[in-house]
Amino acid sequence: MTRTMWDSSVGKKTVMAVSGLIMLAYLVVHMLGNLKIFFGSDDFNHYAHWLRTLGEPFLHYEWALWIIRVVLVAAVVAHAVSAYQLSRRDLRARPTKYVHKKPRTSYATRTMRWGGVILGLFIVWHILDLTTGTVHPDGFQSGHPYQNVIDTFSTWYGSVVYIVAMLALGLHIRHGFWSAAQTLGVGSRTRDRAFKTIANALALVLTVGFIAVPVGVMTGVVS
Ligand code: HEM
Repeated sequence: MTRTMWDSSVGKKTVMAVSGLIMLAYLVVHMLGNLKIFFGSDDFNHYAHWLRTLGEPFLHYEWALWIIRVVLVAAVVAHAVSAYQLSRRDLRARPTKYVHKKPRTSYATRTMRWGGVILGLFIVWHILDLTTGTVHPDGFQSGHPYQNVIDTFSTWYGSVVYIVAMLALGLHIRHGFWSAAQTLGVGSRTRDRAFKTIANALALVLTVGFIAVPVGVMTGVVS
């Protein structure tokens, strides 16, 4: 990408669309992987172990996982930086004073900004919770993700954090997927309708699929 392209709003929106789609692909796989919890601890822990041995013997232990982590961190940073720069640009482009105190931005824009901030905070919480165990040191056992998930969702606040974040995620994907399709220029009237349907379906499936895990633990289906 040339410098001019990178500096342009279209360039930044393209970065947002591509990084967003990379994260979306990860989320679909992560949600499906999480549902293995309904098949019991052996299945779930075995799957977590497989994630670490993926690509062996060509790759070494955890290499594939580290590649995924690096790609995801790059996608999150690119997404957040472009979002911040586009917001700043949007604010600067406005006349300084408004006669009426009307909301300055559209409902979708505000939802995307707040949703993005909530999801950023959630990712930090989620890693401290289920990867490092920092926020629940008593119940956390490294290498036993099934038990750790049960431990997380055995408190009401543990479940509330995830359920609220998953609702924010659904709204974010619903609008984000649609925006990405527009930015990447796949729009025509009939296609627009199809992309809206896909955006709604993806948002619904991901939200329900992710929330099924805390609900499963809270109702005792997973124990
Ligand atoms: C109810 C919802 C979710 C549950 C139960 C869940 C569960 C888990 C578990 C158990 C792990 C650790 C896996 C392991 O150590 O083998 C993990 C890792 C991860 N999750 Fe989630 N997850 C959920 C939602 C999400 C969402 C919405 C995102 C992104 C926005 C996300 C991003 C990640 C990432 C990036 C990691 C990898 C951290 C690492 O580098 O080890 N998760 N998740």
